[in-house]
Amino acid sequence: MIQAKALRIFALLALLVCGVAGLPADVTAQQSGAVPGDSLGLNSDSDLWRYVRTGNAGSTQMKDELAAVMIQSEGDNWRALRNGPISAIGAFGLFIVIFVLGLFYMVRGRIKIDAGPSGKTILRFGTIDRFAHWLMAGSFVILAITGLNMLYGRNVLLPVIGKDAFAAFTAFGKYAHNFLAFAFMVGLALSFFLWVRHNIPNKVDLQWLKMGGGIVKKGVHPPAKKFNAGQKIIFWAVMIGGLSVSMSGIALMFPFQTTMFADTFAMLNTVGFNLPTSLTPLQEQQYNQIWHGFVSLVLIIMIMAHIYIGSVGMEGALDAMNSGHVDRNWAKEHHSLWVEEEDQKAAKPAE
Ligand code: HEM
Repeated sequence: MIQAKALRIFALLALLVCGVAGLPADVTAQQSGAVPGDSLGLNSDSDLWRYVRTGNAGSTQMKDELAAVMIQSEGDNWRALRNGPISAIGAFGLFIVIFVLGLFYMVRGRIKIDAGPSGKTILRFGTIDRFAHWLMAGSFVILAITGLNMLYGRNVLLPVIGKDAFAAFTAFGKYAHNFLAFAFMVGLALSFFLWVRHNIPNKVDLQWLKMGGGIVKKGVHPPAKKFNAGQKIIFWAVMIGGLSVSMSGIALMFPFQTTMFADTFAMLNTVGFNLPTSLTPLQEQQYNQIWHGFVSLVLIIMIMAHIYIGSVGMEGALDAMNSGHVDRNWAKEHHSLWVEEEDQKAAKPAE
């Protein structure tokens, strides 16, 4: 009995001695912050974890650049923003603009040529102007439809047309979106160079704005040159928004190559902002996507009003982009100063 007890105590002591003798390397190493084998130790765990949690890439033998990123927590924020406020505000905006335009049509009706068509026309846009407009407009409409499908299609279109048709449409739409983006950029650049000189703001625009463009009351026609203030707003929104959408779109097409947001944030920080400037390549992509979607939605909402007023909303307007020739009475009512300029030019003897 005593023997057995002594044996147990001995065994315990032996274990303790062996254990202590065997452990010291690990214990001392861990307490001093290093781990045997020179791997990262306890001291670095928080740094390492922060590095991993904030979407930084490690190294991998895999070809896929994303495979080196273990955790991309910002992805949760991006998804919440895209599927939450961006989608909701966009849908609300689209609904509101359709509602307001419908209401406006019901109350005001089609804006007629007050003096009636004169039967005489004046050239408003030449072939190159109309080509630029329709290149930009046609590609924009397809970009808008395929883009909206990317944001809302799964919830709106899929239940209506079914999985197979939705998959085919979305795959086709993705190619159309990527390739037609370049047609849009060409149309945008062309329109800019053709029309920028007519879109410099001037005093006449203030008067036009003060009179609400004359679109609410019948018979009110504020003077305007080739483009009125409302059109100038559309022009600059399309040019600036279009450029921004194009740049963010290119960044999405060729991922991980740009640092546009970090650079923009750094610039904004010089005027008092406090925005993050060390963004991981994935964060850059997420900012690009959110910005691309947001600006596109704003443009689509704006352009819907433009399409309305350029077609069903106003008698005689579409002719400008159709044949290029508009009725003189339409031109006198909406662009009186431009008609005067054109008449003066026509009256001048050729040099
Ligand atoms: C698809 C339907 C569209 C129709 C029926 C339409 C119609 C028109 C018309 C009639 C004009 C000439 C207005 C005038 O003579 O003063 C015009 C001008 C213009 N359009 Fe369009 N458009 C369409 C789409 C677009 C799109 C998608 C964009 C841009 C993304 C666009 C951008 C412009 C710009 C910048 C101008 C010159 C400034 C202005 O009149 O506001 N259009 N459009």
